[in-house]
Formats: sequence, C-alpha cells, structure tokens
Amino acid sequence: MSRITLSRYLIEQTRSHQTPADLRFLIEVVARACKAISHQVSKGALGGVLGSMDTENVQGEVQKKLDVLSNEILLEANEWGGHLAGMASEEMDNAYQIPGKYPKGAYLLVFDPLDGSSNIDVNVSVGTIFSVLRCPERNGCEGDLGEEAFLQPGTSQVAAGYAIYGPQTMLVLTLGNGVKGFTLDRELGSFVLTHEDIRVPEATAEFAVNMSNQRHWEAPVQRYVGELLAGKEGPLGKNYNMRWIASMVADVHRILTRGGVFMYPRDSREPEKPGKLRLMYEANPMSMIIEQAGGASTDGSQRILDIQPTSLHQRVAVFLGSKEEVERVTAYHQA
Ligand code: AHG
Ligand code: MN
Ligand code: MN
Repeated sequence: MSRITLSRYLIEQTRSHQTPADLRFLIEVVARACKAISHQVSKGALGGVLGSMDTENVQGEVQKKLDVLSNEILLEANEWGGHLAGMASEEMDNAYQIPGKYPKGAYLLVFDPLDGSSNIDVNVSVGTIFSVLRCPERNGCEGDLGEEAFLQPGTSQVAAGYAIYGPQTMLVLTLGNGVKGFTLDRELGSFVLTHEDIRVPEATAEFAVNMSNQRHWEAPVQRYVGELLAGKEGPLGKNYNMRWIASMVADVHRILTRGGVFMYPRDSREPEKPGKLRLMYEANPMSMIIEQAGGASTDGSQRILDIQPTSLHQRVAVFLGSKEEVERVTAYHQA
C-alpha cells in the first residue's frame, strides 16, 4: 500500500468528515513550521542555537534562543495565509495581530512554540504544542483581536496536536475523531502516517511527576503518590515505575505510546498559581489528545477541557493519562 502523507490524510478527512479546507491548510502550515523548528533544533551547537537570550517571557522565565526562534517560525509561517484571525503564544504577553496587509480567517492558533526548553542544551527531546479554536463572531474577528476571543474552554478546540523533536520527529494530531501519529521522513520532507489509531491503555504501572516538589503538594496528591511508592505491599497491590523527562511533550508521548499517569499538581510554593503548566497552550491541547485517545485529564476536581479560561497565560494543575489512575487521583481529591 502507498504511504499516506499528512497532506493526503487531511484531504481524505475533508472528504469523509467535512474538515474545512482552511483548517486543512492551517494544519499543513503548522506542520511545515514544525519541520523548520525540527531542523533548527537538530543543528544544536553547530547552528549557534543553544543557550539563553537576555530576555524573560510574561511568566518571568528566561527565554532560550530556540524559544524565540521557534515562536518566530510559527508566526511567520501562519500570518500571511488568510486562515487565522490571530495567534497567542507562551512567548508573547498579548494576542498577536495578523498584519493589516494580509487577509484574516476564521481560526485562532495558540501555541507553546518550544516545550521543555530546559532540555535543549542537554540534547533531550523537546516539542511544539498547538491548539486551534474558532474565532467567536461576537468578539468581532475583523478588527484588533483582544484576549477575550481566545478565552474558550478546551471543549471548543477544533484541533490539537504536538510535534516532538526526539530521535524521530513526529507530529501527533487530533481533529476530534481519534489521534493519528505521523513520522517525518527527512528524505521526502513529508510527515507520513505511521500511527493509525493511538490509544492510551486504561491501566498502567508507570507514573510521571517531579518528585522534588513532594513536600509542597496537597494532601490528596501526597496520599496518591505515597500509595504508588508503597508498591505491592501497599493498598494498590502492585509495583509502579517512575519516569520524568521534564518535557511535557515527551512525557505525554510516552504515555500515549505505552500508558502512564502524568501529574503536575498545584503546590504551596506559589499558592496563588494553580500549578506550573499553562491551560491554553499546554493542558488543553494535551487533554484533547489524551481524551481522544481514550485517556482522561483533570485538574484534580474537574475535567480540564471544561474549565472556562479567564486569562491567556493562566496555569492549571494537571493529572492526565491512563483512565484508571486519573480517576483514582481525582477521586482522592473529592474524598
Ligand atoms: P516550557 O519549557 O514550555 O516552559 O515547559 C516546561 C514544562 C513542561 O514541559 C514540563 O513538564 C515541566 O515544565 C517540567 O517542570 P520541572 O522543571 O518542574 O520538572
Ligand atoms: Mn511548555
Ligand atoms: Mn515553551
């Protein structure tokens, strides 16, 4: 059988699921930008792309050169095509306006241009996470776009995906009917469908959490992780293994591949911030992918996709992955 490229997959989706042509174009443009980012990431020290800038982003994090470069690649690729009404990113304080010389479209693109940037300099997998929303008419998508247009719950996403820049570069995508994985064929320059129907196993014996924060966690998380660590002799009656890559993309990719539960709980270090991860461009797209793959995702008390955002860069506690374990830790929050 001939290979199915991302372009062919998207065209066939238009035929079978009425995926609009401008959404198809949007995904193709994002994929092209991810290829360019993959290329830059893989140059490493040879391309002079490692290391930090002397700037901070809106969250007060020092920006890496590749954070800024990846952000620019995504903006430049997406601003001219007429498919977007605006963009927002981890690396920009406010919504990005489509320059007046270009037409505007119906969609909003929100992204984490480079996830896991603390891993860049040590040559560990990083990625790009993106979420696609429709621009709500009531916010007037023609003029300057305010933050409100983006503040839609994760259930409103029309597509979500990530690229992982690891030993292979892959694009994992959902248009709301399952999750597909494409591997970059560097000789052809195309993403090729290699993972037809990604499903998260319901049960697992693997967890991912930054254990160094343990003393700051709330009681339900202390209880849950305590039980995981107690293993066969504890109340859960089985041994669990732990993995923590510190790139959400890479941790989620592992969970999509072989199951697991990923946690970034809120903690008492900065009580006004509910966790570290950002709702709009980390938690929401990853939650849509995980749910579409048969897994679950909550903030401990509710489904992440149901949260009504109140600001672009808001944070959220995250528990996602294999259903059985996400349901268990969520139940402990309610006990
Ligand atoms: P980013 O590099 O986009 O700021 O995201 C980093 C996030 C996420 O990818 C990862 O799961 C988490 O931060 C790692 O946090 P720790 O440094 O606490 O391990
Ligand atoms: Mn990130
Ligand atoms: Mn980032």
